[in-house]
This record gives sequence, structure tokens and C-alpha cells, in this order.
Amino acid sequence: MNAPLRIALVGAGIMGRQHLHHLKGLDSAVLCAVADPAPQSAGFAAQCGVEWFADTAQMLAAAKPDGVIIANPNTLHVSTALTCLAAGVPVLLEKPVGVDLAEVRTLVAASRDSGVPVLAGHHRRHNPLIVRAHELVHSGALGRLSTVTALWQLQKPESYFDIPWRREAGAGMLLTNLIHDLDLLRHLCGEVRQVQAITSNAVRGYGNEDCAAVLLQFENGALGTLTGSDAVAAPWSWELDSGENPVYPRQSDQPCYLLAGTGGALSIPQLKRWHYAEDGAGWHQPLLVEQEAFKPDEALRLQLEHFVRVIRREVAPLVSAADAARTLALIEAIREAAATGRACAPAPIDA
Ligand SMILES: NC(=O)c1ccc[n+]([C@@H]2O[C@H](COP(=O)([O-])OP(=O)(O)OC[C@H]3O[C@@H](n4cnc5c(N)ncnc54)[C@H](O)[C@@H]3O)[C@@H](O)[C@H]2O)c1
Repeated sequence: MNAPLRIALVGAGIMGRQHLHHLKGLDSAVLCAVADPAPQSAGFAAQCGVEWFADTAQMLAAAKPDGVIIANPNTLHVSTALTCLAAGVPVLLEKPVGVDLAEVRTLVAASRDSGVPVLAGHHRRHNPLIVRAHELVHSGALGRLSTVTALWQLQKPESYFDIPWRREAGAGMLLTNLIHDLDLLRHLCGEVRQVQAITSNAVRGYGNEDCAAVLLQFENGALGTLTGSDAVAAPWSWELDSGENPVYPRQSDQPCYLLAGTGGALSIPQLKRWHYAEDGAGWHQPLLVEQEAFKPDEALRLQLEHFVRVIRREVAPLVSAADAARTLALIEAIREAAATGRACAPAPIDA
């Protein structure tokens, strides 16, 4: 049996503490240090029984972790990950992988050239229901995937915007929230060739979008729509429908993604699969519906277990820096499409 890996946390805020909650439940890894310049994080590190550092480089030199979870502010993601990679330490890097594609490309190159892995924190891909949906789509259970409908429509309370950066340009729901949905759409449906988009801030009037409508053309020919708003009293979103995070009261009967192909259709998160009894049937025959089985489990814990295996070099990251960079490139294409009114292609990313 391997000794538990020593994991450090950089950024002991809301998300970092969620990771720690799951880390405590693992036999294969233990927390060894906390790095976060906020004074209150020193007390938090003491509560956890580990040494506190204000600075990541000092932490790496002193604690010599086997891996680092990075959950600090978005603008620090790339520089922090580069510091860890330079010390030869694999990272679990929260989403977004960075805020600027040019900067993220340096991280992709550093991980490739050093051979030190980056696991990007698109944790929903680890959710067993997404694992099952991915199997179904890729096994051909839906036939040729043709149309994709994604919904992210919910209401953030006004208090959410008390924190100033949440009202400012660049920090809107595209980069904060829809990045998860777009990452899943890439994962389930394939790469996106081009997008058209309209965004609006008409409800709140802040510096970032509160509504978005996106048209997606996938490389496999499928066509999709993603409509998003964080200013509507509606029940259609992964957050409300999947039950993944108990802080959101669940609307378990409502879908957030509808995938339809020539041989069947799938609603997510319900995992109901619709199909005809025979090939060649059509709208005059009844559609049959199957409830696809999966074993619910916690995506964040499964992601950490995967990170342990990534550190041990037993598996490649499920979401590499290059993979996460493609999701960021898709966000940038949507922004450009919304700003120009043109169809835009995501910038290519070399692995
Ligand atoms: N995967 C998800 O579903 C999900 C959900 C929420 C947040 N996140 C991501 O997690 C990250 C953190 O978000 P949060 O909501 O926990 O924010 P937060 O503000 O609660 O926590 C950020 C922490 O980083 C610390 N920090 C600031 N500068 C630092 C530095 N130089 N070095 C180390 N630590 C530093 C802050 O003191 C704070 O404790 C963000 O990138 C966010 O996008 C992901």
C-alpha cells in the first residue's frame, strides 16, 4: 500500500474548503500545508493542523507537497500553476484554467514540456451521471447526434452582487457559470466549430451579461443552443436540477440538457433515453423511454481520487490544461461573436 500523498491547498476560500472537506475523507492523501495571504487563513491552517504560508513559492520550498490544489482568484491561476510546475508539482487547478487564452497557452506548453500534469477542475465530468451520459452518446445509443439544447436559467439573489468584482465586466456568468455547461457540451457532444451569440445586461445593467443566447455548430455536424440567464425565476440549470450541490434546492424533474440524435434522445440529469422500438419508425409510433441507471456519487471527491492517480502518474488528467484551454477558447469565441455579430470559431489549441 502506498503512503498517503501530501497535498497542499493554495487559496483557502469557499471552494478550497470544499476540496478540503473531501480530502479529509480520503485514505490516499492528506493535507500538508495551506498557502493564502489572507490573515484569517493562518487560523484555518492551525485548525487543520498544518503549517500556514502567505506565499506559494515559500510553501513549495518548505512543505514539498506531492500535489497542490489551486483555488485562488481566477487571475492568479496561471501564475500559481506555473510556480508549482516549475517545482515539479502536479496541480488540480480550479476553473477557469485562466482568464486570458494567451496566458493559458504558456501553461499548456509548460505542462507539456515539463511532463508535470495539470488537472483542470471541471469537476462535473467526474459525476457518474455524466460518465453514463458520455458512454451513451459515444456508444451510438442516440444514433447520429443532431440537436443539442442546453439551459442555464436561474435567479441569483441581489446580495450575490454585493461583492464589487461580480458586477464588473469579465466576471459575468459566461466565465463563472456557463463555462461548466460549455465544458460539458464539448465533453458530451464534441468540439465546437463555430458559434453565434447575443448577450444582454438589460435586467441588471451591470458591466457583465445577465442573459445570453448562443448558437453552436459542432464539428460532427450537430447543432445546438445554449440559453443562459442568472436573472430569471426559472428551474432549468445543472445547479438546480442535478442535485450535485445541496446548497441549491433541487428541481429533480426538470432537465438542463436535451441531446437528440437520429436513433434516440437523452434528457440530463434525468438520464431518460427515448427511442422507437424499430428502425424506420416515426411520429405515428409511440416513443419508448428507458431510465438509464447510474450510481450517484460526489463529483468533487471523485475528482480528488482521480487527482491522486494523476499525481502517481497512473492516469492522464481527465481534463488537461489543453482541454480546459479549449473550453476557455470557446468562451472567448462566444464573447467575440456577441461583440461583433459575426459567427466566430474557437482559437485552436495545440496539446
Ligand atoms: N468548480 C466549481 O464549481 C467552483 C465553484 C466556486 C468557485 N470555483 C473557483 O474556485 C476559485 C476560488 O473561488 P472561491 O469562491 O473559493 O473564492 P474565495 O474568494 O472564497 O477564495 C479565494 C481565496 O484565495 C485567497 N487568495 C487570494 N490571493 C491569493 C494568493 N496570492 N495566493 C493564495 N491564495 C490567495 C483568498 O484569500 C481567498 O481565501 C475560483 O477560481 C473560482 O472560479 C469553482
